[in-house]
Amino acid sequence: MKIENNHTAAGTDQDSYARNSIIQAMSISKEFPTIKEALERLYATMQPKCIMVGELGCASGPNTLMVIPEVIDITYKTYRAMNFQDIPEISVFLNDLPANDFNTIALSLASFHKKLDVDRKGDVGRCYVSATPGSYLTRIFPDNFLHFVHCSQSAHWLSQVPKGLLTKGEGSINKGNIYIADTSPPEVHGAYREQFEEDFTTFLKQRGEEIVTGGCMVINLMASTKSYRPQDYFMKQALNIPFGDMASEGLIDRKKLDEFELAFYPPTTEELMKVIVDEGSFHVQKHGIFTVDWDLPIKDPRNYYGKISEAEKIDVNERAKYVAAPLIATTKYMMGTQFGEHVLDEYYARVTKVLADRLSSGRKCESLHHSISLIKI
Ligand SMILES: C[S@@+](CC[C@H](N)C(=O)[O-])C[C@H]1O[C@@H](n2cnc3c(N)ncnc32)[C@H](O)[C@@H]1O
Repeated sequence: MKIENNHTAAGTDQDSYARNSIIQAMSISKEFPTIKEALERLYATMQPKCIMVGELGCASGPNTLMVIPEVIDITYKTYRAMNFQDIPEISVFLNDLPANDFNTIALSLASFHKKLDVDRKGDVGRCYVSATPGSYLTRIFPDNFLHFVHCSQSAHWLSQVPKGLLTKGEGSINKGNIYIADTSPPEVHGAYREQFEEDFTTFLKQRGEEIVTGGCMVINLMASTKSYRPQDYFMKQALNIPFGDMASEGLIDRKKLDEFELAFYPPTTEELMKVIVDEGSFHVQKHGIFTVDWDLPIKDPRNYYGKISEAEKIDVNERAKYVAAPLIATTKYMMGTQFGEHVLDEYYARVTKVLADRLSSGRKCESLHHSISLIKI
């Protein structure tokens, strides 16, 4: 796996991330109270004339711009409530890997501003939106530049196949699996954890230089506890098992399977906190854990998919398609790059079948998330 392939499906067609990121949107909306608290605290200590906002790992689609109206609303209300003279300008920098579909975002900006104006009944000052392509594991902004950073559903993606899995000349020790699986050697879990620790330390160090002292960062990433690792089901079973079967049936190249890892790690709270404390640039203002149910036809609180028929609510195969949609949009590009686009229809049909089996046994398909609010020391 190469970091440049670790991005979501481009465009706006049926399988695009733009049309299949409702689960992530649900997790972003659960962070709004934390963002509100973080910004209110920020403005109690400083009142910048222009608020510099970084949206890191922004992808492409409705989620990319989802936090901006919230930031504007909170900022205006707080400045007014505190009788600060001038409403500030807001400058938002959208960051993702260079191959992210920034063109589609750029094309959506005019209608975004128009809708913002209508929704706020004209109460919008200057809000600039620009793109900052590059890996957030490098420096992407000047020193002491940003006041607020938001990063959602991205920091659990690793920069590379965990280094600890690679043996000299023989590829990965996790052969036959694409993730930490029941058949993986015992060292595999530790290798994933160490790669997460290294990457997240780098992420914090870079932001520690870019965010002003007293500035804040709200991060939402997938989580585990010692006893509950719900998204393991997606990685260990749904995405992993079909490739093993397809390699046995000669439908994919076993060598390609052996060298591929789904470089993803949902840390426990203890693991996450240890990295933050050891790195030392940030103080933890708040931390919480929440779940998101992926079984939308059963539970579609914001009516994201419009009207879902009773038949779809009952039929596990239909429900499995909804559960699979965000998984496909997130992994399609990297799987296609590694295994060839010609295998994707068969592969994702099998992934969806594994999910349908789980739903038909009455078990949940959900993910666990950290919501963490940090203050730059
Ligand atoms: C699942 S998407 C989340 C997108 C959006 N924030 C949301 O919540 O819907 C993860 C995003 O992180 C981006 N990403 C992964 N590693 C990155 C890195 N090192 N630098 C910048 N972006 C990265 C991916 O390209 C992808 O767009």
